[in-house]
Amino acid sequence: MDALRITGGQRLHGTVAAGGSKNATLPIMAASILCDGPVVLSAAPWLTDVCTLAELLRHLGVESQRDLAGDLHLCTADITPTTAPTGLVRRMRASFCVLGPLLARRGRAVVPLPGGCNIGHRPVDLHLAGLTALGANLRIDRGFVIAEARQLQGAKVELRGPNGSTVTGTANVLSAAVLARGTTIITGAATEPEIVDLGRFLIAAGAIIEGLGTDTLEITGVEGLAGAQHEVIPDRIEAATLLLAAAITRGTVSVTHVRPEHLTAVLEAFSAAGALVAVGNHKITLHAENRPLPIDLIARPYPGVPTDVQAQFMALLALADGASVIADDVFPERSLHLAELARLGARIERRDRLALIEGVHRLSGAEVTATDLRATAALVLAGLAARGETVIHEAEYLQRGYENLPEKLNQLGAKITRISPTQAGAPRFSRQSRKPATHFTR
Ligand code: EPZ
Repeated sequence: MDALRITGGQRLHGTVAAGGSKNATLPIMAASILCDGPVVLSAAPWLTDVCTLAELLRHLGVESQRDLAGDLHLCTADITPTTAPTGLVRRMRASFCVLGPLLARRGRAVVPLPGGCNIGHRPVDLHLAGLTALGANLRIDRGFVIAEARQLQGAKVELRGPNGSTVTGTANVLSAAVLARGTTIITGAATEPEIVDLGRFLIAAGAIIEGLGTDTLEITGVEGLAGAQHEVIPDRIEAATLLLAAAITRGTVSVTHVRPEHLTAVLEAFSAAGALVAVGNHKITLHAENRPLPIDLIARPYPGVPTDVQAQFMALLALADGASVIADDVFPERSLHLAELARLGARIERRDRLALIEGVHRLSGAEVTATDLRATAALVLAGLAARGETVIHEAEYLQRGYENLPEKLNQLGAKITRISPTQAGAPRFSRQSRKPATHFTR
């Protein structure tokens, strides 16, 4: 288990590029199961989660490799496998996105129910109801979803749940509907940019989809999909995390390879917290001089502030000149990062679904333990600002969703080193963490 050692106190300056979007790449990779021809994804990030899904797809007859330019090539060599291996699906929830494509293209799918998660309750009832509406004969047996359908039929599907729509649920149902007979209307569809990107990929492969970016999608089924070449959108969550690094260290950082229009609510939050934000063509520059101002933040479905930056904003607001409140309407229980931030000196109290943050002048380095991907990012940000040295145990979560984040931050002036578990000493407590997937051969 990797650890990170951070020497805090450096103001970050410079320019850094965001990578390709993890949460667009994963459902698009799963959707490659639908395609009869080769798929080439450019700008797909090098991440543990991408490697895990590539490994799962290999078990499902989809070969993948990276070329020297870094493009990810996927091609179906065998359409007979229909069972996803438990270990791989349990390692990464997004693997559940293979359900819809497998069912639609191969007529059968056996996929383990995704495991528990450190960010809260994550049911899949909307996924299953949506596929059932398309005519799937679906049951759950010994922890597996077993779905069969000789031919899916277009239908009306509602995907809005108690906490808004479901992103990967929309991916599953959208992917299945493109090969259903007739027309499917999805209401309450997720409008996240990652779903729009999936839709654009499917259209490039021959699908007929109307309404992308709205909560109502109309899909006219087609006989089959060809292959496609597609450039994955920039990762808005990574971009926000890099900008937060500038804000928390009171530096000046420009992030390139970014779509500012995907971050409107986040940029508004930065401005409300007193940072200066300049938006250019595929570029955002953030400058911060002083302690952040306190703000109240509610994480919401797109176009709201994403739940995937809630923990990182909490690290920033821990240093605000006053009291802030953060709530998360998507994952109300997403709060494992609070205790670890408190070890660095943050004053955060949980009251019902609210996090009440009393800003402090300074954080102090300490040993902390990562609990999930975005919590690890929050601890890195807090370590950048803390006085002295911070050691983050079990930091391998980071590479699940950020390509070389420590190295990118070091380019901006941070002092982060990867250290072995023995150098780091035993963490205060050890969590059952995921074994990193096999990596691509470069
Ligand atoms: C996607 O997860 C993202 N993952 C998450 O990013 C992100 O936090 C989340 O969407 C919300 O934006 C990927 O895209 C791979 P949901 P997903 O289904 O699709 C409830 C990260 O850090 N719900 O949109 O699993 C659910 O409980 C990850 O990159 C149901 O009620 O999330 C939650 O409250 C973490 N029934 C809300 O909907 C269902 O069938 C949103 O969940 C499905 C979900």
